[in-house]
Amino acid sequence: MTLSSVRPCPDDFNPCASMFPLKTRRTLLKPFTHNDLPHLSQLYSKPEVMQFLGGVKSESQTREILQDYISQGETPICPLAIFTHDGQFIGRSGLRCSCSPEVLQLYRPNGEIIPHRLNRLIQVGYVIDVPFQKQGLATEVTKTVLQWGLQQLQLPQIVALIHPDNYGSVRIARDKSGMNLEGCFLWNGLPWQFFRRS
Ligand SMILES: CC(C)(COP(=O)(O)OP(=O)(O)OC[C@H]1O[C@@H](n2cnc3c(N)ncnc32)[C@H](O)[C@@H]1OP(=O)(O)O)[C@@H](O)C(=O)NCCC(=O)NCCS
Repeated sequence: MTLSSVRPCPDDFNPCASMFPLKTRRTLLKPFTHNDLPHLSQLYSKPEVMQFLGGVKSESQTREILQDYISQGETPICPLAIFTHDGQFIGRSGLRCSCSPEVLQLYRPNGEIIPHRLNRLIQVGYVIDVPFQKQGLATEVTKTVLQWGLQQLQLPQIVALIHPDNYGSVRIARDKSGMNLEGCFLWNGLPWQFFRRS
């Protein structure tokens, strides 16, 4: 083989592309693309969806967020767009790696207080658009993402950080997906419950 016969890697080559879409009974999960801006903008403009996610986002804020999601899509630890099998946008799922260097005081359920580092924790997230809520979709998707992360990607653990008033989200982590409550901490002035599954 001569050097000239080696074809260069295309600019849009994504080594993780063959892993996706992840499939659940009713959904397909795939890395975000620029085509998802209208979907994500309408989702992130809804106060009821964004109440525990830092508040509603303008279209230009969402464009920046989407760019970040797309750049993370070069590894499997990335946000994933959720679609029905016939292509309707449902929301966001997937994994992300926290790169906050902070060490927080974790208040354990037994009263113990221990320092806990947030850096390099792999978090699962889930956001379901209003017309699709309360149909078991977050549960279905989250179970699949956890199983995929722990078994296929062989991650040692996956965590979720949830505001204690976000009862639906707590139900999914604790009661539907087998995540254990490890404790609580204050982060950015707000209380967060810290769930883990390994
Ligand atoms: C939280 C959220 C993902 C739930 O999605 P969903 O698809 O409606 O969840 P499911 O249908 O799988 O519901 C799982 C369980 O939680 C319950 N539940 C869901 N939302 C609830 C709510 N707002 N209040 C109380 N219970 C709720 C369901 O009734 C179900 O329990 P059941 O089987 O005993 O009836 C969705 O409401 C959402 O996207 N919220 C805004 C974004 C958000 O806060 N994400 C989490 C950030 S940590």
